[in-house]
Amino acid sequence: MLAKKPPMGWNSWNTFTKDINEEMIMQTADTMVEKGLLAAGYEYLTIDDCWSEMERDANGMLVADHQKFPHGMKYVADYVHSKGLKFGMYSCCGPKTCAGYPGSFGYEFKDAEYFASVGIDLLKYDNCFHPSTPAPLRYNRMAMALKATGREILFSACNWGGENVWEWARSVGAHMYRSTGDITDTFESIRKLSESQLPKLATSAPGCFNDIDMLVCGLYGKGNVGLGMGCTDAQYRYHFALWCMLMSPLMIGCDIRTMSEETYKLLTNKELIAINQDEEARPPMFVEDNHGMKDNIICFRHLAGGEFAIGFFNPYDREQTIMLPYFEIGLDPLCGYGFEIRDLLTGENLGVHRDYFEAKVDATDCRVFRARIVKL
Ligand code: GAL
Repeated sequence: MLAKKPPMGWNSWNTFTKDINEEMIMQTADTMVEKGLLAAGYEYLTIDDCWSEMERDANGMLVADHQKFPHGMKYVADYVHSKGLKFGMYSCCGPKTCAGYPGSFGYEFKDAEYFASVGIDLLKYDNCFHPSTPAPLRYNRMAMALKATGREILFSACNWGGENVWEWARSVGAHMYRSTGDITDTFESIRKLSESQLPKLATSAPGCFNDIDMLVCGLYGKGNVGLGMGCTDAQYRYHFALWCMLMSPLMIGCDIRTMSEETYKLLTNKELIAINQDEEARPPMFVEDNHGMKDNIICFRHLAGGEFAIGFFNPYDREQTIMLPYFEIGLDPLCGYGFEIRDLLTGENLGVHRDYFEAKVDATDCRVFRARIVKL
């Protein structure tokens, strides 16, 4: 079964847009292995839009851009596979991709054959210039074309959350579905996209996950979706930890060849990744902040193995003490049970807490904990 857990990998779009080429992709594949990103779970390397020639060939087949990929795409795919990684590519359900390259509308089965001949393991399928056919049919058509090739290909449906995608994405064979517009490297965008999905996580589950968009961690304002100064390390921590808590696919978007030590540590944080990849994949319960800070996100999540994850996310620009009163999750003060709590980011055991648990959270930052229920 594909996408038993939220898919993890790297994608070229957030940093490189059309400035992609064979050498950069192969170096990225090397880096994913050498820096231990593959070992941490990032297995898909995906080339996004702008990889092809502007025209199909005389047989109507897609052709890789000769200058960017002089040896053709199979050569790149073979190299990526030789590193133990999986290879992803991109197309669109309209006649053109978002950047104006040939799209798959009317060519779905032919293009699926091309992608299978290259040896892809993931297809990101975008939504620009689409015809008036209902979205489920547009996406189902490509899902069937991929199946017809006989190759196992993870289908990443990217329709930006339109047409109530959460209601039909699973039915049309998608393994992940973009539920939001494009992310930018700003804290405002991170907040807006994630908050839009808090009430829509119930259908995100093994086999088909809600994709809140690719990560901007480590961009620091550079690259395609980089704006101004980008975000602070605390804000990237908020972003990554929240994507882990909400079980979003984790697709790295920065240039990993030159990423900072801080970015590397965040992206390979074993404890946060374990929460993202938890095999039970249960979305969190959300508790309202009882100090009236309505934008705080307080998550309580059941994990496999009997433990729980607690996340405190402070989007305000000043430090706050955030509190989880246990009665808000049904644990009555008189029941005789409390939680033993460990800080995931520092590793510190914070001991047993009864009635409530509170912690200081820096401005635009987060704290994440693991909890075990104990008899007092
Ligand atoms: C957008 C999509 C982005 C990227 C871009 C390529 O529609 O949401 O993630 O794929 O197209 O042109």
